[in-house]
Amino acid sequence: MELKNDLLLRAAKGENTERTPVWVMRQAGRILKEYREVRSKLSGFIELVQTPERAAEVTIQPVDILGVDAAIIFSDILVVPEAMGLPYTMEEGKGPFFPKTVKNEADLEKLKIADEDSLGYVVEAIKMTKKELNGRVPLIGFAGAPWTIFCYMVEGKGSKTFSVARKFLYNDPSFAHKLMDKITESTIRYLKNQIAAGADIIQVFDSWAGILPSEQYDDFSLKYISKIADAITEVPVIVFAKGAYGSRKSIGQINCDVVGLDWNMDIKESRKLVGPGKTLQGNMDPAALYSDFNMIKSETRKMIDQFGRSKHIANLGHGVYPDMHADKVKCFIDEVKEYSSK
Ligand code: CP3
Repeated sequence: MELKNDLLLRAAKGENTERTPVWVMRQAGRILKEYREVRSKLSGFIELVQTPERAAEVTIQPVDILGVDAAIIFSDILVVPEAMGLPYTMEEGKGPFFPKTVKNEADLEKLKIADEDSLGYVVEAIKMTKKELNGRVPLIGFAGAPWTIFCYMVEGKGSKTFSVARKFLYNDPSFAHKLMDKITESTIRYLKNQIAAGADIIQVFDSWAGILPSEQYDDFSLKYISKIADAITEVPVIVFAKGAYGSRKSIGQINCDVVGLDWNMDIKESRKLVGPGKTLQGNMDPAALYSDFNMIKSETRKMIDQFGRSKHIANLGHGVYPDMHADKVKCFIDEVKEYSSK
């Protein structure tokens, strides 16, 4: 299917575009009343993720309502640990929880490699979304980076310190590598299935990148992201490693096409570290969307000017927060489109 708007894909490949493409992490979700309406008719978030018709519906909502240049499949990074044998719950306001975690070699041995059967609902949701999008914008597939998934698998929930996960890296590095290998294999299979179903580009989210010193980061996280980037040859790959300041140079050297920046990463400095070859994505402070419309517009223009008009995909420096107003998010998107086409 020919895409009517392929700005994101062209920018990801480093080609010049008429204007800067824009999308927003967490664009499908609680900021939209239309999303909350769909979710309220189901038992909750997990049922929504596992019901392809409804997942496709909320994936497309931000394309219609916000006018973004890409859809991102509505799912979660936590579907991979679930498919490997660790079910999770999601409580409003509390975040994810895994009743069972991986504590030792015996637990590790019991884990499955995530396969098509266990994640068929995501594949189905992608097929439905592609059909309903009818080529309007590209569809982004995604997965968590092995390190971030490892954190959830051993901690069982979010954490301020991730001390259980970090303890393993010092006390039992070979266990950590074995688990990381298993997650990586699952993730590659999963992403290939997403691509076969129609995903046009892939983003790898390393949300907890920032808690490791850079040497450990390169060894326990980037090495596996790099394996994923090497394996995904079909479509462009975006790597978003939040807080990985000390590893921007090494991320610039792996086989990905786009490097995501968080809002604390200086744009000019990041460009120097990553090098001229790759496209950068980001990175306005999401909290700027709490300000008034004029301030949002001027902050957006500042961001566009600093990145320049090529090799840039506009986004926030992390996901939009659930209490933000959709019209402020739309203001950011509209301003990127207008200002960057001048
Ligand atoms: O629009 C999109 O970005 C697509 C959907 C998407 C979700 N989660 C839906 C979701 C994506 C890409 C994710 C990725 C994800 N999930 C990450 C990486 C990105 C990041 O934010 O750093 C992480 C760490 C998770 C794990 C996760 N899922 C947490 C910690 C939480 C609870 C916090 C929260 O926001 O409530 C979730 C739940 C979740 N995932 C929601 C949504 C829309 C909220 C659940 C709800 O609707 O009640």
